[in-house]
Amino acid sequence: MQPVFLDVDMGVDDALAIILALQSPEVELLGISTVFGNVPLGQATRNALQVLELMERDDIPVYVGADEPLVRQLVHAEAVHGKTGLGVAELPEPQMLPAGNALDFLVAALEGRPGEVIIIATGPLTNLALVEQQQPGILNQARRVLVMGGALAEAGNITPVSEFNSFADPHALHYLIKVGINMTLIPLDVTHRLGLAAEVIEARLSGRDDALACFVRDATRTVIDFEREHYGFAGLHLHDPAAVALAIDASLCQSETYVLDVETTGELTAGQVVVDRRPLSRDEEREGYPIDCAMGVDVERFMQLFTHRVLGEV
Ligand code: RIB
Ligand code: CA
Repeated sequence: MQPVFLDVDMGVDDALAIILALQSPEVELLGISTVFGNVPLGQATRNALQVLELMERDDIPVYVGADEPLVRQLVHAEAVHGKTGLGVAELPEPQMLPAGNALDFLVAALEGRPGEVIIIATGPLTNLALVEQQQPGILNQARRVLVMGGALAEAGNITPVSEFNSFADPHALHYLIKVGINMTLIPLDVTHRLGLAAEVIEARLSGRDDALACFVRDATRTVIDFEREHYGFAGLHLHDPAAVALAIDASLCQSETYVLDVETTGELTAGQVVVDRRPLSRDEEREGYPIDCAMGVDVERFMQLFTHRVLGEV
């Protein structure tokens, strides 16, 4: 089994990513850390506890991370994910308590199993930046760091040019790119190809009234309404589950290495991932840092994996 650590900001697709990880025999989920993002930190932590209890996995610890970005103003995305971050789903009051501080656990998990753990970050990268600042080199004890974030040739989703996780804490992403951790970026260029239609959800869940089916139906409703209204798509994009799927089967995506950096201060462009595409003869003249980016994805195989494991058998 592949040991995995999830760092999440607990919107709907984060919840679906956790469920995919729990439904995957290849994955040993060591723990979850929460960070502000789609919803405030407290709500993100509550959501993580509730989703684990929904899945009857209160054996998995939840650690509390950062409640605000390194430098910029706090932003959330309740318009997309709903006030609680989990759409209109109503889950019981969590009985679990958080197990501690995210940074302490990240260090312990990485030092305890050097070179083995895949960290999957599906929110703003504040926790990862803070732990690397606190203990330089610690993230290179990870086997890999998979980051859902950025938009390279694709339009943004929170601004015309920026993806939400990158926009919410551009300084954190810039710092991690600059220090050169062992990272693969999974940008909107890939995840915008992973749209799950509402009718597929309904067909797969029809006739089911178990707790998971009710949760998926209610949690996805708000995002589907948002996407239908703003993008004319009656469905939702599986941004965060894509990062989990890549930890399960690396062959699902094709990667390219780009020299890139992140805008941290622009009024219109904060959070934009800027790729140096100039046809320069010498790479060392490029602006930015070489980063591995997932740019192609086997959509059919991903959708089969996700729908089979999260929405269940047909
Ligand atoms: O831009 C999509 C990303 O931002 C996803 O991780 C979503 O959950 C939000 O955090
Ligand atoms: Ca997320």
